[in-house]
Amino acid sequence: MDRATYKILTPGDLDQEGNDKLIFELDVLNGLSEHPKHLSSKYFYDDEGSRLFQEIMALPEYYLTDCEFQIFESHKRDLSNLFSDDPFTLVELGAGDGLKTNILIEQFLGDKCDFHYSPLDISEGAMVTLIDSMRKKFPELQVNGVVAEYFDGLKWISNISNRRNVILFLGSNIGNFGQSQARVFLRSLWNSLNDGDYLMIGFDLKKDIEVMLRAYNDSRGVTARFNLNLLNRINRELGGDFDPDKFRFYANYNVFSGAIQSYLVSLEAQEVHIGDIGESFKFRPWEPIHTEYSYKFLVSEIESLASATGYRIIRQLYDRRRYFVDSIWQVEKLTR
Ligand code: AVI
Repeated sequence: MDRATYKILTPGDLDQEGNDKLIFELDVLNGLSEHPKHLSSKYFYDDEGSRLFQEIMALPEYYLTDCEFQIFESHKRDLSNLFSDDPFTLVELGAGDGLKTNILIEQFLGDKCDFHYSPLDISEGAMVTLIDSMRKKFPELQVNGVVAEYFDGLKWISNISNRRNVILFLGSNIGNFGQSQARVFLRSLWNSLNDGDYLMIGFDLKKDIEVMLRAYNDSRGVTARFNLNLLNRINRELGGDFDPDKFRFYANYNVFSGAIQSYLVSLEAQEVHIGDIGESFKFRPWEPIHTEYSYKFLVSEIESLASATGYRIIRQLYDRRRYFVDSIWQVEKLTR
């Protein structure tokens, strides 16, 4: 019997009315009608965007991935001991290629831990590749994948799980949320979890600004293609006529907000029509579309976030250069 499977969450599974395409259209309509224009980075991750993100993670300048590999390698035994008191479900939010997680899975299997793996990702292409590689590498592992957005996935987690949950939210994915969105997300996650469940959450720390800038202004232009793919996606899925050659990618670090901010800048005056929305949008020369926030953190900010949302920090795991921290939080619902 096949132990590794996945399902695509549909509105029916979540008992809610919904239509992904309609929401995408509304977000694009709102974002391009406002001043300054903006589009959400959550739309980067169609199959091509997920593939480009994997290319980014392999870039020498994109230190975040390497830091987490180091952390996992040095702390895998300790993590296996910590999580394995009770049978658990290892839930990975935004699993992508799951490569870092393989280090933990290998350790847990070697230590005969009783666990299942539930990766969640927004891209079906990424999920198919992940399930396939899990089947080959770990044929004995029970894998239940889900294709969904984070918030929908949370509802699913709360519906199915009665084991202890160990949630992985790696790669500083939390940094792509705005500050209040991050709080709301962590609190809704808390609502879906039980007392004593674990959350392992990766934060990219504030550091030398040049190091952070190089990670986004990479020399091979992969991050630029990753951003520009969003225009191609709008062309493909919403009948747009963006010419990506008439935009350039720009990223800077905002010292006030503590975020790398990414933009697509129009190189000339132009008008773009999006057929499925039935609207045209005018661009002035050098007008930006804001596409992404990548927040960077101080340890004190991480501590405030944990306590404000109902978690206790039980470990802070750093890489050698202290560029990044994987923070292990435990859900606190009852006073101990
Ligand atoms: C997924 N996320 C944490 C990445 C980041 O660093 O903000 C996405 C990314 N954007 C550009 N490069 C990588």
